[in-house]
Amino acid sequence: MRTPIIAGNWKMNKNPKETQEFLDSIKGKLPESGVEAIIGAPAIDLTTLVAGAEGTPLKTAAENSYFEDAGAFTGETSPKALSEMGLDYVIIGHSERRQYFKETDEDINKKAKTILKNNMLPIICCGETLEQREAGKAEDWVTGQIENAVAGISAADIAKSVIAYEPIWAIGTGKTATADQAQEMVHVIREKLASLYDQDTADKTRILYGGSVKPANVKELMAKEDIDGGLVGGASMDPESYVALVNYQK
Ligand code: PGA
Repeated sequence: MRTPIIAGNWKMNKNPKETQEFLDSIKGKLPESGVEAIIGAPAIDLTTLVAGAEGTPLKTAAENSYFEDAGAFTGETSPKALSEMGLDYVIIGHSERRQYFKETDEDINKKAKTILKNNMLPIICCGETLEQREAGKAEDWVTGQIENAVAGISAADIAKSVIAYEPIWAIGTGKTATADQAQEMVHVIREKLASLYDQDTADKTRILYGGSVKPANVKELMAKEDIDGGLVGGASMDPESYVALVNYQK
């Protein structure tokens, strides 16, 4: 049984004070079991986030980390330090990081390995552009991203990790992929994992959909067989909307 995940991705939004206000607003409103509620926040907010999540069901995520533990890498975030702070997950390979910060599949693979080595779990993002989809190249592109991201990572580690399929054309645009489109690609990703590893590993890995997920469409997406959750940007920033998302089963 794969436990569903609702993971917020605040991107470059909220300061520590706003983070605390959000945490105060959601207090006592998260499901105790059945769904894993995660918030991914900017590095400057993580101390507040981790302190506020302690003793609650909320899990925490950083939005990026470097692939070395420490050293002369000005401005980067150490995965070792994140782990020592108590972070549970790190989102890597988000399309915004690939597009604006020129992250490559190789960087993402190295980051995934370093995150796992530090006893956190990666949320590995993948997804195609509208152009690629219209040219019929989406499946090859996405499965290629996954193959590169997981290269050299053990089956046991992948089974614990999380993948997020986020078609770029659906991110922040209000244009959700239909539940069928999302299911179709998430299934293709699971099949890819089965061919790279084995069916058991593929059946254990949680694969999320991301791109304009909101309280109004979360149920339909979550009803799909292969979709194990959502990576949510815009709709995760308002506490009321986040609480509605994580309680989608009610
Ligand atoms: P969105 O962002 O929900 O605002 O479309 C999703 C994401 O980029 O993770």
